[in-house]
Amino acid sequence: MTHVVPRVRITDVSPRDGLQNESVMVPAEGKAELARLLLAANVDEVELTSFVSPKWVPQLGDAARVCELVSDHLAQTGGARLGDATRGPMLSALAPNAAGLTNLLAANEAARAAGVHTLLSKVSVFTAASESFAQRNTNASIAQTLERFAPMVQQAHGVGLRVRGYVSCVIACPFEGAISPAKVRRAVDELLRIGVDEIDLGDTIGAATPSTIRALLHEMHDLIAPQARDETALTLHLHDTFGQAGECVREALALGVRSFDGSVAGLGGCPYASLPGKPAPGNIATELIVSIAKAMGFACSVDEARLRHAAEFARTLTGRGPMGRAHP
Ligand code: HMG
Ligand code: MG
Repeated sequence: MTHVVPRVRITDVSPRDGLQNESVMVPAEGKAELARLLLAANVDEVELTSFVSPKWVPQLGDAARVCELVSDHLAQTGGARLGDATRGPMLSALAPNAAGLTNLLAANEAARAAGVHTLLSKVSVFTAASESFAQRNTNASIAQTLERFAPMVQQAHGVGLRVRGYVSCVIACPFEGAISPAKVRRAVDELLRIGVDEIDLGDTIGAATPSTIRALLHEMHDLIAPQARDETALTLHLHDTFGQAGECVREALALGVRSFDGSVAGLGGCPYASLPGKPAPGNIATELIVSIAKAMGFACSVDEARLRHAAEFARTLTGRGPMGRAHP
């Protein structure tokens, strides 16, 4: 009998989460080059950008231009057919509302006209387990965000896109403090009810410890291996404030989670999770997740040398060192 090595799926969110909170405005060309290097490193998914209001997140006001540059690159290099929505490498983007989805679909249409079959094969919507955070981040209650998303999910599915549903503040909220796993589960159930294909749990302020991750995952047992449909059912999105995120990845892998988000060089942070004098923490470094998964014996498609190269490039884009930890 052959032994199948379980695989771990990696999404690099640095072009979006990594750069949305930077004080320097990174040019679209730099973001597109970062995405190119991440695709070359064979991560399963690159979260390319966010079709968000530029009034809310000026750093990502160039979403359409970034898509155009990546699509031109793919068309020129024969990479015009990316992986499908579950097998990478593939690209995704965030949309907070119907206007964002319209702009995302327009970017895909423009790419198709340039010869790229499906540039973005997934849209990610985002809500929270904390009412205060939902209000600050989306100017809406949790229930209102879900009302916004329901028709977006239908529309996205109608054109063959997959939908990821993010829940922020799954461990703690910068404004409300600790958040219970039961509260997170309520938001997860609502997202599943409106038809999202996968759940992504965001520890927005990097408060998780192995024991709080264990309690959280206990509530999600049906979404993780061996019960889960596949490794995309549940993703963990950690920020690394206290250097505990690596331990949390180990714990989550041991408990059956097979999909993680990271950001090369540990860049990142949600602007609406910052407090005065306390900027939002960076994402866990993708390099750290990959090295942990491989050391624990999981299969992972990522080329680590190429990933390091992408990380070095990401550091030059921001002109400073990483906020998160880049090495175990
Ligand atoms: P609002 O102010 O209530 O929206 O914000 P509105 O509908 O009243 O529109 C205000 C203006 O924005 C209008 O323009 C709209 O046209 C425009 P005006 O008439 O004033 O000229 N607008 C848009 N423009 C472009 N694209 C759009 C769009 N929508 C409206 N999509 C809104 C509501 C949802 C728009 C706002 O709250 C928003 O953009 N929030 C997003 C904030 C954000 O992106 N946060 C970071 C991502 S989430 C995150 O980082 C967490 C995560 O990493 C997981 C974790 O770590 O926990 C995912
Ligand atoms: Mg985040």
